[in-house]
Amino acid sequence: MDINDKKKLAAEAAIDYIQIGDVIGVGTGSTANYFIDALTPIKGKIDGAVASSEASAERLKSHGIRVLELNATGQLPLYVDGADEATHQRALIKGGGGAHTREKIIANTSTKFVCIADDTKLVDSLGKFPLPVEVIPMARSSAARELVKLGGTPELREGFITDNGNIVIDVHNLEILQPIKMELDISAIAGIVTVGIFAIRPADVLLLGTDNGLKII
Ligand code: 5RP
Repeated sequence: MDINDKKKLAAEAAIDYIQIGDVIGVGTGSTANYFIDALTPIKGKIDGAVASSEASAERLKSHGIRVLELNATGQLPLYVDGADEATHQRALIKGGGGAHTREKIIANTSTKFVCIADDTKLVDSLGKFPLPVEVIPMARSSAARELVKLGGTPELREGFITDNGNIVIDVHNLEILQPIKMELDISAIAGIVTVGIFAIRPADVLLLGTDNGLKII
């Protein structure tokens, strides 16, 4: 099975978590796109979606799915999104697409967070994937110096601006053995909007596409 088939398998399995009349949170990326595509045939079952990026909002709308603002919905029953890395404890690195600030807001506002991915994303510990950090532009240098103090090697994501008008620094060479502590430490740096570690609020369910079918963690 190729990697896209695995992503699709996980994305389609997430449809089972939807209840009739739900407004659901929808993430960003290629796996989330497969989920949006899988929503189309059952779109009459949901009341609408909250998107974690402009790109996902556009894709949802192009499929005829109503897009709502999170401020208008309150708590969501379900959030479905991909990840760049996931541990067996369901802590994640997200933000490969630079959408992790809105993703974290929606994850924190959702009762159930179902993470969908191919099995190459499953790791024993986080940190091989460069850790995305959204930063207010004027804090680019100061935040980078603080990230070096934590042992990382920061690299500006060239030519990229988030949906919130900020920059992204990708932090290499961090071995994240205590994800909650690292999430708290990086979040405390002035000018950092959101770090792409999702450990304080991890996924509740991890659906992985594998060569042997669906794996649920
Ligand atoms: C976007 C994300 C994505 O969920 C993550 O990058 C995974 O993407 P893909 O499904 O394309 O592998 O966090 O900010």
